[in-house]
Amino acid sequence: MTSAQGSQLMAALRNIVGDCNVVTEPKELQVLGCDWTKIFTVDPLAAVFPGSTEEVSAVMKLCHENRVSVVPSGGRTGLAGGAVAGNKEVVISLKRMTKIEPVDRVGLTVQCEAGVTTQAVQEAASAAGLFFALDLAAKGSSHIGGNIATNAGGLKLIRYGGMREQVLGLEVVLPDGSILDMNSRLRKNNTGYDLKQLFIGCEGTLGIVTRATLRLMAKPRHVQLSCIAVRDFSDITKILTISNMQGATITAFEFFTDVAHGIVLQHAQGARTPFQQRAPFYVILEVEDAAGGVSVMEPLLEKLYEEGVCLDAVIAQNSAQFKELWSLRENITESLSAHGHVRKNDISLPIDMLDAFIRELMDEVAKAPKDIEVVLFGHIGDGNLHINYVGPRSGDKNKFQDAARKVEERIFALLPKYRGSVSAEHGIGLLKKKDLGLSRSEAEINLMRGIKDLLDPAGIMNPGKIFDRK
Ligand code: FAD
Ligand code: MLT
Ligand code: ZN
Repeated sequence: MTSAQGSQLMAALRNIVGDCNVVTEPKELQVLGCDWTKIFTVDPLAAVFPGSTEEVSAVMKLCHENRVSVVPSGGRTGLAGGAVAGNKEVVISLKRMTKIEPVDRVGLTVQCEAGVTTQAVQEAASAAGLFFALDLAAKGSSHIGGNIATNAGGLKLIRYGGMREQVLGLEVVLPDGSILDMNSRLRKNNTGYDLKQLFIGCEGTLGIVTRATLRLMAKPRHVQLSCIAVRDFSDITKILTISNMQGATITAFEFFTDVAHGIVLQHAQGARTPFQQRAPFYVILEVEDAAGGVSVMEPLLEKLYEEGVCLDAVIAQNSAQFKELWSLRENITESLSAHGHVRKNDISLPIDMLDAFIRELMDEVAKAPKDIEVVLFGHIGDGNLHINYVGPRSGDKNKFQDAARKVEERIFALLPKYRGSVSAEHGIGLLKKKDLGLSRSEAEINLMRGIKDLLDPAGIMNPGKIFDRK
């Protein structure tokens, strides 16, 4: 693009969204063209902040006519490089689109624009006496549009499903600027292909989500939370099995290693261990009380002690302790970032294969360079394991990433025989493009390419994410 064409494009963008909603200042663009990964080159042409679906559509039409690529951007908390603009794209940020319609208490739905934060939807539901089920530590920053585009998983998937399960309808702006209205509020609708599913988890490669209708539910029964100290990884899957067999309604089943715990204690303000004696692993278990407010947690913990799978356990006795226990898990990501250079995995496995996989994983970890610390945590009740490779902050960032990638490659190579996935919830983005073939067959990837070509023949919609065009 010549500089005259560039100036013309900027003038046209300003015309659509207003002068103050177009950014071309390089320092600001470094932030706006980046997500949480912070390891990819960032080099957008501009960033724009449309205020309505019509403005998104007009921006998209303009970019389509000029064959300028775009990168949709939400709260930029993504962990796969999906919102990274590294090749003179126009970043389309939905941060001004934050309207939430009044909650529908009969049908249990809420409609909102895509730039609303996850937490704002949780709060709107709660203010109406209802509950929005998606929950993740990034909720204060992540947008509903980003949650939809990544099909976010989070802390409560074991009970309520991920983002896909929360979406009833969608409005999407397609790469040519046309508006596709699939924003139905119907619970049941068997009238051909369910097209909205294509856009959930597409990482912004097929269109821009501008509005959604989300499923709400009655507030859950009172829950109890415990943190359980565990000797052996295999005890974690035993705890899950026993909890299932006791008929517990599990609302969260998370784990972290003592290494992860130590890093949180070091970096998160006010963090304290709840135990007299540290243990190799910890489980965060949240269960609903039975009808009539009868505690399920206490008899369950007794059973776990009896079965010898629990070294120690604490139950949150009040809301302050509840928050404190959850923060030991929710603060892991931020604490790791404060601790050193990090490379993140979010693999998943069939849950009954976790023990066998962990044994193989530990063999690989033993072979890893000594200055790479391997930190494990995650949504283990869903079979979703976060492997984080952590290197000293003083070391060179790029050298660390290369060395960690080598360990990651060996660990990823273990996955196909378990039919595991290289990404349970963060997505492929730029980070795991080379690894897609470990979890998806050639036939599947070709079909995905065909869908991409159909919806985005000009190839301008978040290009280079998930896979490259042939
Ligand atoms: P962004 O990072 O801005 O974008 C993510 C992707 O979505 C990009 O490909 C982007 O192009 C696309 N996109 C964004 N908005 C739109 C739109 N309106 N239309 C089309 N495409 C769009 N993830 C989990 O799944 N579970 C967790 O438990 C979890 N915990 C986290 C905790 C922390 C502390 C952090 C930093 C991240 C965590 N994440 C988690 C990752 C991240 O929060 C999620 O992937 C989230 O859904 C991203 O939302 P976002 O608005 O920040 O999206
Ligand atoms: C989490 O479960 O905390 C998130 O997926 C973030 C991470 O993997 O660090
Ligand atoms: Zn996670």
